[in-house]
Amino acid sequence: MQKATVKECLTKLPVGSELEVRGWVRTFRSNRFIALNDGGTAANLQCVVDFENASEEDLKRITTGSCIVVRGDLVSSQGKGQTVEVQAKSFEILGDADPDEYPLQPKKHSLEFLREKAHLRMRTTTFGAIMRIRHAATFAVHKYFNDRGFFNIHTPIITGSDAEGAGEMFRVSTLDPANPPMTEDGKVDFAQDFFERETNLTVSGQLEAELAAMGLSKVYTFGPTFRAENSNTSRHLAEFWMIEPEVAFNDLDDNMDLAEDFLKSVIKYILQNCEEDLAVLDARLAEEEKVKPQAERSEQGLIERLNFVVDNNFVRLSYTEAIEILRNSKPNKKGKFKYRIDEWGADLQSEHERYLVEKHFKSPVILFDYPASIKAFYMRLNEDEKTVRAMDVLFPGIGEIVGGSQREERLDVLVSKMQKLGIEEEDLWWYLETRKFGTCTHSGFGLGFERMVQFITGMGNIRDVIPFPRTPGRAEF
Ligand code: 4AD
Ligand code: MG
Repeated sequence: MQKATVKECLTKLPVGSELEVRGWVRTFRSNRFIALNDGGTAANLQCVVDFENASEEDLKRITTGSCIVVRGDLVSSQGKGQTVEVQAKSFEILGDADPDEYPLQPKKHSLEFLREKAHLRMRTTTFGAIMRIRHAATFAVHKYFNDRGFFNIHTPIITGSDAEGAGEMFRVSTLDPANPPMTEDGKVDFAQDFFERETNLTVSGQLEAELAAMGLSKVYTFGPTFRAENSNTSRHLAEFWMIEPEVAFNDLDDNMDLAEDFLKSVIKYILQNCEEDLAVLDARLAEEEKVKPQAERSEQGLIERLNFVVDNNFVRLSYTEAIEILRNSKPNKKGKFKYRIDEWGADLQSEHERYLVEKHFKSPVILFDYPASIKAFYMRLNEDEKTVRAMDVLFPGIGEIVGGSQREERLDVLVSKMQKLGIEEEDLWWYLETRKFGTCTHSGFGLGFERMVQFITGMGNIRDVIPFPRTPGRAEF
């Protein structure tokens, strides 16, 4: 008798195979039909138990959530929506799930409820599909870069550098928080800490990726990133995964081309390899849209949305052009944005980004050449000395999905920018040496992996596309 997975039973093994299959019971109908799932695929395998051969007591233990092994023959099925099923000769309960206590029932649970049950939610059809797609997207990211001669660089998670300024940081320390050593002038003495300096969890691997690109030309990172921003939104996590390519000799146009091609390739990979799971999530989204008021309903289904991104060029326009469009726009009935955008130089709020993408262009948009004053110190200054070679990729339903730039490679310009911003040269001496020795044009960007998975799966809340979300007040397991 061979051991088989649910997927092998449904797609590979010939009718007549004698087999043994394990999984968790989704439903048990009429004391006879088990819907079995082992997470390898969205579909359930129907196992038919012959109750005449089973004790009443054992049948009672086949409940939603219990773990069982079924032994029997694979036969053709008359049932709706399945071609094969297992005719069980025997079964065994591996792990009971008391129906009075097991939180997941064979009815629809809300996403909010399942967030509270994050330790069990991967047993549901929706979260199984999301996690399999997340895996496939991870694979597609590595494949994309590997196929194009990029090298994956593991940048540090604990870092002594805090000059990136991408967000609030989480301190890493082994000092006793209740009684830390103090210096003579009354400050915590980090010289006595583990690393003999202040250290934090990284907010971005970019600066280290730049160092690597200055030796290996084409590199990328794909690692966890931490931001202690107290933002309880459906787009922010305190711990998220970021993909950061960095390429020597690329200018801003090359960088935009790379970001667009990369996003399209990963989405195309999912369309081609995750059909079954996309169908599950397409149906889920359609249900969700149905209960929305007509005016808020999306015209496109999930798969249409993905195909649209793959098949069309992203709109590219400068920050200055975007400001013009926003000034002349009438976003709501009163013709107003919640945040006015009259001043050139103001940062765009997500309502402005989403207006451009969802209402004005109805397409992904790449905005570039932002005012220097609202962007990071390392972005290359344009000839106008007012704007920098920055770019943000904005996606429908998401807003900013990618942020990047061409980097300032001129030592004197970089140093004077740092002086203006009060960034100490000695804190970044290692970064400045890449500009001192063999400097060159280079560019890169950061893609928030969860925001991309959100787009691909059509999930409205970022907490539903990472197995164990880290958000303010939440880090139990
Ligand atoms: O725009 P950000 O802050 O850019 C950087 O960190 C650069 N150092 C990247 C680079 O050029 N190498 O972040 C990049 C992306 C954002 O566009 C967004 O998709 C995602 O990271 N992101 C978050 N995703 C989830 N939760 C958060 N709190 C996020 N903050 C940023
Ligand atoms: Mg950004």
